[in-house]
Amino acid sequence: MRNDKGSLVRPMPLPHSASTPVVTPLSPSVVYASETPDALDAQYEGRVHGYTYSREGHPNADVVAARLDAMEGVAGGVVTGSGMAAVSAVLLGLTKAGDHVIGGNQLYGRSLRLIAEDLPRLGIATTLADPGDLDAIRAAIRPETRMILVEVVSNPTLAVADIAGLAALCKETGVLLVVDNTFTTPRGFRPFDHGADIVIHSITKLLAGHSDVMLGYVAARDPELAERLRIFSVTTGLTPSPFDCWLAERGMLTFDLRFERAQQTAALLADHLAGLKGVRRVIYPTRTDHPDRARAQELLRGQGCNMVSFELTGGRDAANAFARAADGLAFAPTLGDVGTTLSHPASSSHRALTADRRAELGLSEGFFRVSVGLEEPEALLAIFSDAVAAAADVS
Ligand SMILES: Cc1ncc(COP(=O)(O)O)c(C=O)c1O
Repeated sequence: MRNDKGSLVRPMPLPHSASTPVVTPLSPSVVYASETPDALDAQYEGRVHGYTYSREGHPNADVVAARLDAMEGVAGGVVTGSGMAAVSAVLLGLTKAGDHVIGGNQLYGRSLRLIAEDLPRLGIATTLADPGDLDAIRAAIRPETRMILVEVVSNPTLAVADIAGLAALCKETGVLLVVDNTFTTPRGFRPFDHGADIVIHSITKLLAGHSDVMLGYVAARDPELAERLRIFSVTTGLTPSPFDCWLAERGMLTFDLRFERAQQTAALLADHLAGLKGVRRVIYPTRTDHPDRARAQELLRGQGCNMVSFELTGGRDAANAFARAADGLAFAPTLGDVGTTLSHPASSSHRALTADRRAELGLSEGFFRVSVGLEEPEALLAIFSDAVAAAADVS
C-alpha cells in the first residue's frame, strides 16, 4: 500500500460520522473493492448488493433511476449517457435483422435518422407514419413489426399522438409501444398508465433542467425487457458518468416547481403571442384553436407543456430581427432550460429537409419554437412584444 517514499497510494478510509450528509455524495470511483473472493461471489450471485465497475452501475446513476422510476410508476429503469443513448438501447438492443420498426413521422431528428438510416443498414425494415392517424399506423403494421416509437407531443409542431388508440392497436397486434416522454415529462403524462410498454427520456431537457448535463433514461414494464435493456447498455457502454448523474439529481429536486411555473407561463405566452400584430399563428396543445386540443386535455390532465411554437408573418429577415431583438433569451437549439430558449427549425433541426417537406410540415422561415423558462411572466411577455414588433418592422 505504501510506495518507496512511504506515502499512501490509496485514499484514506472515510472518517466515521454519526450524522449523514443531506446531499447525495458524488461517487466517481470506477471500481469498487470487495473484501474477499467469497464476498465478491455473494455480490455476483445477488445475495448482497454491491457495485463492481461503474459501467455496470454506480450509486449516482441508481438514485437518478430510482427517482424517475417513482415518477413513471415502474421499476428497474436504466440511466444512460444521453437521451439518444436511451433511444439507441431500445431500437438496437431489442430488435434483430428481419424485424420491422415503425417510428412517428415527427420524432426528434436523431431518432428519425436512427430509424430511417441505421436500422435498415442492419437489416431492420422501418416505416415512418403519423402517430395521430391510427389508420396510417394500422396500415404500416406487418407480421414482423416489433415496436412503434412515438413522442406524445411532436417537435416542433406540437401535434398530439393518439396514445389511447396506439396502445389498443399495439395490444391487439402484440407490438411494443415505446413512448419518448421528454417533452411531456412524467408530471404532464405517465405513459405506463396509458398502456405503453417502454418509456424513454432525455433527462438533459426539463428533468435536469439547467443545460449542464446530458443524460437519458429508459424503462420497460416487463422486467425481462428491462433486464435486456440494462445488459445492452452496460455491454455497449451507454451508461452515464457519476458527475452527470449527480448534477441531474440536483436539478430534479426542483423539477416539479420548474415544470409547473414554465407550463403556466407558456400558456400565458401562447395567448399573448396570438394577440400580437406580426404573428401569423400560434401552436399550443391546450389552446382552443389547436386541432388536437381534446386529446391534449385528456392526456395532459388539464395541464399544458412548456413549449409554444409560433409563426411570424415575415420571412428570414423578420426571423433575424426577432432573434436579435429577443433580449436575454438564448437563441439555442435545446429545450427545458431554466431560461427561455428559442429554436428556428428552418436553420437548425429541420435544415436538412427539402423546402417542400418543410412547407408540408408548416415550418416556414418565420417559424420559431419557444421553450419557456422561469423568467418573471410579465417581463417575458414584454420581451416577446418588443421582439415581434421589431420583426414586424422589417416584414
Ligand atoms: C424528444 C427528444 N428525445 C430525445 C432527445 C435526445 O436527447 P439527448 O440530446 O439527451 O441525447 C431529444 C433531444 O433534443 C429530444 O428532444
